[in-house]
Amino acid sequence: KRLVVLVSGSGTNLQALLDAIASEGTAAYGAEIVAVGADRDNIAGLERAERAGLPTFVCRVKDHATRDEWDRALAEATGAYEPDLVVSAGFMKIVGKEFLARFGGRTVNTHPALLPSFPGAHGVRDALAYGARVTGCTVHFVDDGVDTGPIIAQGVVEIRDEDDESALHERIKEVERSLLVDVVGRLARNGYRIEGRKVVIP
Ligand code: GRF
Repeated sequence: KRLVVLVSGSGTNLQALLDAIASEGTAAYGAEIVAVGADRDNIAGLERAERAGLPTFVCRVKDHATRDEWDRALAEATGAYEPDLVVSAGFMKIVGKEFLARFGGRTVNTHPALLPSFPGAHGVRDALAYGARVTGCTVHFVDDGVDTGPIIAQGVVEIRDEDDESALHERIKEVERSLLVDVVGRLARNGYRIEGRKVVIP
C-alpha cells in the first residue's frame, strides 16, 4: 500500500514509520511511504523525509487566497502520489471538504489524548490541567470534526504527580509511535471496514 504522511513538526511519528518499514521491509510491513507533505517549511519532519530520500511537498495556508483553496491544493498535492492511505502524523491543520471527499475513510490521525476527551491542539496540556489521572493517545480516522472520527486504537499513559506538559507528552509519544506503526501496518496488510463508529480490521 502507498502512504502519504502529513507532518507539521518534529516528525518522530514519521520516523517511527520509516524505521519500521526499513527494518521489516516494505512487503512484510505492507506499506511504503511515497511522499511526505507539510503545512510549513523548515521543520525536522521534512528533513527526516529528505534524509530518507522521499519526495516532499509544502502547502501553506498563507500562500492561498482562502482556506478552501488551500484545502484543494493540499488534496491535489497529496493525490499526485496516489496514496491508498494518508497518515496525519502531528499534522496541525484541520483538512477541509475537498480533502475529505478524496481521502475521507482512508486518512488516519494520531492524537495525544484518549478521545473523546481533550480533542484539539492542546490534548496533553488539557488533560493535565483537568487533573486526569490517566491519558494516552488515539489513532482514528479523520472526519469533518476536530478529532471526532471513528477510533481505531488507543494507548493508555498514567499521569504522574510531578508531570509537566513536556514530560507527559514525551511518555505519550513513546506509546503513540508504536501504536501508529502497529495500526498503519494492520490497516495496510489486512484491509478494514468502517461500520458507523466501529472500525473492523479482519
Ligand atoms: C504527536 O504527539 C501528535 O499526536 C501531536 O503532535 C505530536 C507530533 O509529534 N499532535 P511528531 O511531529 O511526530 O514528533
